[in-house]
Amino acid sequence: MCGIVGYIGDKDAFPILIKGLSRLEYRGYDSAGVALISSKNELNVYKCKGKVADLQRFTESKDVSGTIGIAHTRWATHGEPNDVNAHPHYSSSEHLALIHNGIIENYAVLRKQLESEGYHFRSSTDTEVVVFLIEYIQKKNNVDLCTAVQLALHQVVGAYAIAVVEKGNPDCIIAARKSSPLVIGVGENEFFLASDATPIVEYTQNVVYLNDEEIAVIERNKPLRIVDLNNVTVTPEVKKLALNLSQLEKGGYPHFMLKEIYEQPETLKDCIRGRINVEGTHVALSGVIDNCEKFANASRIIIVACGTSWHAALIGEHLIEDLCRIPVEVEYASEFRYRHPVILPTDVVIAISQSGETADTLAAIELAKSKGAFIYGICNVIGSSIARATHSGSYIHVGPEIGVASTKAFTGQVTVLSMLALTIAKVRNTITEEKYLSLIKQIQELPERMKETLKCNEQVKDLSKMFTYANNFIYLGRGYNYPAALEGALKLKEISYIHAEGYPAAEMKHGPIALIDNEMPVVAIATTDSIYEKTISNIQEIKARKGRVIAVVTEGDTKVCNIADTCIEVPKVSEELCPIIASIPLQLLAYYIAINKGRDVDQPRNLAKSVTCLLYTSPSPRDYAAS
Ligand code: M6R
Repeated sequence: MCGIVGYIGDKDAFPILIKGLSRLEYRGYDSAGVALISSKNELNVYKCKGKVADLQRFTESKDVSGTIGIAHTRWATHGEPNDVNAHPHYSSSEHLALIHNGIIENYAVLRKQLESEGYHFRSSTDTEVVVFLIEYIQKKNNVDLCTAVQLALHQVVGAYAIAVVEKGNPDCIIAARKSSPLVIGVGENEFFLASDATPIVEYTQNVVYLNDEEIAVIERNKPLRIVDLNNVTVTPEVKKLALNLSQLEKGGYPHFMLKEIYEQPETLKDCIRGRINVEGTHVALSGVIDNCEKFANASRIIIVACGTSWHAALIGEHLIEDLCRIPVEVEYASEFRYRHPVILPTDVVIAISQSGETADTLAAIELAKSKGAFIYGICNVIGSSIARATHSGSYIHVGPEIGVASTKAFTGQVTVLSMLALTIAKVRNTITEEKYLSLIKQIQELPERMKETLKCNEQVKDLSKMFTYANNFIYLGRGYNYPAALEGALKLKEISYIHAEGYPAAEMKHGPIALIDNEMPVVAIATTDSIYEKTISNIQEIKARKGRVIAVVTEGDTKVCNIADTCIEVPKVSEELCPIIASIPLQLLAYYIAINKGRDVDQPRNLAKSVTCLLYTSPSPRDYAAS
């Protein structure tokens, strides 16, 4: 939700922190701030509402000296985005400064207790309570900062990744986490700290992922020390990053979103690599093979996810039921975790998440785990909390997705789901050899089909101009293309702020068709599949009411093109894989409409890349399967 950066070493901390914040800005961007211990040993906090660029302007005439500092970019939860609520927060005496990502659930109780001790708070945040509490404990018990943090965190209920610095102590940062991510970069005579590895990768490939309820004592010129809340020493496990810097930059594109749309032919290659044999006769996800008994004998598969990942899950439901004949239920993780679902030890639960940090998905995993189900993750971010909380899983390997609107992660998730379904179907013998080989071949060809699909860019760009001022949009699809329609509508609404709804095309006549008039743009996915003729009838119903139809069709189509106002052609692929291809023009349409409206497509209002701020109970770290 928020982004955290820290540095201690022999370089100037400020430029490193600012660059790190810019890399993490996708996590939250309503305010930003930095705390530095200056060369005069002062603890300076500078923070303001707005983006990292605003913070840079704000600090132009300030003393930003120092080789130790922490910094934060915020996505507001408690208290509106303003200068006071921005992080870092000083302690009461301004002796400490702290940054936080997460939510302190019992902050109101703690705040009341501290107020009764005479403390006065400056902000409306939950975070300020933590730094006041640490200082209170430090003074009362006359203990060092690490001990004070340990004692304070015993009283804190909630999710946190925090970093604290202390005036007069320019050689130490204390950091801790529970349910919010925190990575430590280990360099030569220097350490970095961040919510994810993106600010670290240009300095070092060596990282330590902090686990829940661990505290890192990061000291200048000393080895990294990790202890738990009870002061038991934990040996840091240094891992190598598999990230490179160019993946984090726009590479000549005006926005990360457009870059990520265009990357898809390559990201799909990475996603497929090593999972299909060279001859194209065999597909296997090693995580599924390692646990093939569990999948083969599953009484049911439940897929939990949020947002775009939930749309991918709906396609997964079709794939698994069609190819493997196992009943599948798809659940919003945010609903699943709060109801009383029936979960059996014979169930397999698949959790899908790009970031691997979505709090609701993590909580759903914990719930399912507690009922004895086997949990399989499909994540993008390597080493993320969900990757570590699941029993096994598959990475989608599409590289860092920085644009808030998910694009390449969606196509990667659906591709992994199709390979997963084929792997299970083979084990269960529920697929004919002909179908199996045909789908493998088509998966191998997807990167090429993607390239061809991207040729619609100019057409979509032109088309977007006609719809920039529409107030509403409807997206329609049937079968595999219904979730693709939902995803198209989500893309448009989240980055253009135009109201858009996705429906199964045949549902229109049960109510939504009342919305159709000559001002309503209707995007219909009408590729040639087993229900093509039915979709055509639905389009005719829209045209009969003067709706303006933009249809995504299979190349060479004539039937739909005779009825629709505009047709965007995509290459022919079998219906199981069609959403992967059909989503490309919809991503581009949303992108160009948002651009025409002057929207900030990479950082749309009110959103953040990963929604990590809700509490869940600790996951136990597990190793991911190689695939
Ligand atoms: O990281 P996750 O896949 O768990 O995130 C889930 C949703 O928050 C995410 O897909 C969101 O809906 C995207 N902004 C959609 O583009």
